[in-house]
Amino acid sequence: MVLSGLRGVGKTVLLNVFANHARRNDWLVIQIEAQPGEAGKIATRAKLARELEVGARRLRGKPAWSFMQDAMTSIGNISASLGATGVSASVTTKQGRADSGHLDIDIEELVEDVSQAMRKSRAGFGLFIDEMQDLDEELLTVLLSVQHTAGQRGWPFYIIGAGLPNLPGKISEARTYGERLFLYRTIGQVNEAAASEALTLPITRLGASLAPDALTLLLSAANGYPFFLQVYGRSAWEAASDKVISAEDANIAVRYGTSDLDHGFFEARWQRATNAERQYLKAMAEDGDVPSSTGKIAERLGKSTNKLAVIRARLIAKGVIYAPEYGSIQFTVPGMAAFIARQTEE
Ligand SMILES: Nc1ncnc2c1ncn2[C@@H]1O[C@H](COP(=O)(O)OP(=O)(O)O)[C@@H](O)[C@H]1O
Ligand SMILES: [Mg+2]
Repeated sequence: MVLSGLRGVGKTVLLNVFANHARRNDWLVIQIEAQPGEAGKIATRAKLARELEVGARRLRGKPAWSFMQDAMTSIGNISASLGATGVSASVTTKQGRADSGHLDIDIEELVEDVSQAMRKSRAGFGLFIDEMQDLDEELLTVLLSVQHTAGQRGWPFYIIGAGLPNLPGKISEARTYGERLFLYRTIGQVNEAAASEALTLPITRLGASLAPDALTLLLSAANGYPFFLQVYGRSAWEAASDKVISAEDANIAVRYGTSDLDHGFFEARWQRATNAERQYLKAMAEDGDVPSSTGKIAERLGKSTNKLAVIRARLIAKGVIYAPEYGSIQFTVPGMAAFIARQTEE
C-alpha cells in the first residue's frame, strides 16, 4: 500500500498505526524513513540493515523465531550490500545467501528467506517506508522488483510506503508495473463530519463543549487539515474562559493558533531558506497553494529556468517544495502561500 499527500495530513500517524497492528500480529516489522541526497542514501541503507537485525531479534520468543535461524544468515550478509559495515558483528555471516554484493540479488534472497520463515509461522514481513519519495533510485527499483516477485511467488512480503503526492509518479517511473503493484491511497483534508468530531470529541470527554459558531470558526481555520485541527483545537482549549467555548474564545484561538503555526510549522521551513530561495518561494506564493509553472516563476524573477534549477533543487532537498509533474512546482505544506503573503506584509 502507498499513502501519498501533503505534509501534516496524517501519513506518518497512519503508517505507525499499520506497523503496530502488524507487530501485534507477530510480523517482522521494519520501519525506515528515507532521506534525500547522497548522505541520506547512506544513512537510509544503514538504518535498513540495522532495523533488519533489530527487528529479527525482536521476534525472539515469538512463533517465527524458530524458523528465522536460516534467514539470520541473509540478514547478517545483507549489511555488506547495503554498505553498512560493522553493524552485524554479532551475527554469524555464513557464505551463500545475500552475499553476492549485488543489491538486487541480495535483497531478493533476503526477502525470500525472511518471508518464507514468516510464512511458516503464519505471519508476514512488512517493510514500512516513510518519506518514500526520497528513497534512492537504485534501492527503490530493487524493492519494487522484489515486491513484484513476492506477489508472483506468494511470499508474504509487503511494502507499505508513505510520501509526498509525487510518490506514485516516482514509483511508476522506476518500474512500469509500479502502478499495479500497490493499493494507492491519497491522504488529504478530512471531511467536515470527521473534522467536527476531531474537535468536539476530546473537548466533550473532558466535560466541556463547543458553541456551534465557535466550531464553525475553528473548522474554517483548519480547513480539514489534521495538523491544523490539532493546533486550533489546542488553542481553543487554552483560550476557553468557560465550560462552553464561545465564538469569542474561538476567534482568539484562531489568532493564537495561526501565530503558533507561523512560528513553528511554517517558520521552520522559511528559516532554512536562503535569500535567493525565499525570492523563489515568494514568486511561487503568487499562485497560492496550487502548482506553479517553473517557466512562469523564471519569468517573474527575470531569470532563466536553468539558472533557477539549482535553487529549485535545494528547496526540494529541504522538503519545502516538490515537483508534482515535469515543469511544475508546489509547496509541500498546505497554507504556505498565505504564510509567505503574511511575511511580505510585515
Ligand atoms: N489520526 C490522527 N489522530 C490525531 N491526530 C492526528 C491524526 N493524524 C494526524 N494527526 C495530527 O496531524 C499531525 C501530522 O500528522 P503526520 O502523520 O505527521 O502527517 P504527515 O506524515 O502526513 O506529514 C500529527 O502530529 C497530529 O497532530
Ligand atoms: Mg510524515
